[in-house]
Amino acid sequence: MSPFPNVDPIPLPAPVWLFKALHVVTLALHFCAVELLLGGLLVATWLSLRGGPLRLNAASSLARRLPIVMTYVINLGVPPLLFAQVLYGRALYTSSVLIGAWWFAVIPLLMACYWLIYRFNAATERGRSAWWLGALAWLIAGAIARIYSTNMTLMIRPEVWQGMYAASALGAQFPPHDPTLAPRWLFMLSGGLVFAGLWMVWLAGRKQIEADVRGFLSSRGGWLALAGVGAQLAAAHFVFHNQPENVRAGLAANAFYLFAGFGWFGAAALIALTGAWAGLKKPTAPAAGWLAAALGLVAALSFATFRDGLRDVTLLAKGYDVWQRTVVTNWGVVVLFLGLFVAGLVTLGWLISVMLRAKPVSEKVA
Ligand code: HEM
Repeated sequence: MSPFPNVDPIPLPAPVWLFKALHVVTLALHFCAVELLLGGLLVATWLSLRGGPLRLNAASSLARRLPIVMTYVINLGVPPLLFAQVLYGRALYTSSVLIGAWWFAVIPLLMACYWLIYRFNAATERGRSAWWLGALAWLIAGAIARIYSTNMTLMIRPEVWQGMYAASALGAQFPPHDPTLAPRWLFMLSGGLVFAGLWMVWLAGRKQIEADVRGFLSSRGGWLALAGVGAQLAAAHFVFHNQPENVRAGLAANAFYLFAGFGWFGAAALIALTGAWAGLKKPTAPAAGWLAAALGLVAALSFATFRDGLRDVTLLAKGYDVWQRTVVTNWGVVVLFLGLFVAGLVTLGWLISVMLRAKPVSEKVA
């Protein structure tokens, strides 16, 4: 008997490839925001702990942007959640129910993390060190990431569902040990270092930040991105090599996923080079920051694609073929949706451009 619940009799209103494309793109954007949050919080906390005017100013330049980053984490998390439910609902709903208490806990944890970020920012804006607030917010964000990684690995392990439910239907238990979980979570945490480094190089191009702080952000950010790439490569090694043999072979046999995997390696190598260059040369030109941002986006897109392949290959081996769905495309709705989606992205771009063109106000705090 298949461990997956029956498929919904209502057909998909758009082709599977379209849902998958939208899923990967929006998830990559969510990952960018998550990495900025995890890494930015950690760096701002560390700088705040070390203290001194230069570091407190650098901490504040990150902390004052964290509440905005959090809005993107949440808002860019919703679309991939919807697409994931459409494509993988039978697996994702099951795993979410099995760890239901933890899954629900994300909401209060998120609220606590958000509140602490506001408090942390308010303190650093007054030139005070409030590293404990930042540290607590980071621990909570890390715990949320752990719950996500737990759910996303449990959803591709149908073989343990029955046993878990038989043991307890409360939803408060953790799944049995999975060797891929810890590396997968660490991959996301170490990605935070990479993205925080790239973000610091980007901030170095902002005129409202004092000149000495910009040089500091640029060089420290560059070295951090370089170190982060090293840590992430180690985590990636363990994520891949802890996969079962058939999953590794399936990924290697698929040209598209292979391309995405090598795309990520290429982006990581370029980030490492850019990081070393920024570390040595301390660039404060906006162009350096935009280069860093573009590399981060390519890394997130290629990683999200490869991760998608990992899930599909794993699920296929267990009898779940995401492409096997009845599709009755409602083209009118699809065109309307795509039109609104593009309009939304253009509006977002325009809002960001207005923000960037606004007259800078000095961010000096201490
Ligand atoms: C502080 C808040 C958050 C953090 C730290 C966070 C972190 C993460 C991490 C680490 C993953 C990858 C897990 C893995 O595959 O191992 C992930 C995936 C995901 N997150 Fe977030 N997340 C946050 C908030 C949210 C919110 C609020 C939403 C939705 C409203 C969301 C939606 C998603 C979705 C849909 C996925 C994966 C979907 C898929 O596998 O197809 N996240 N998140």
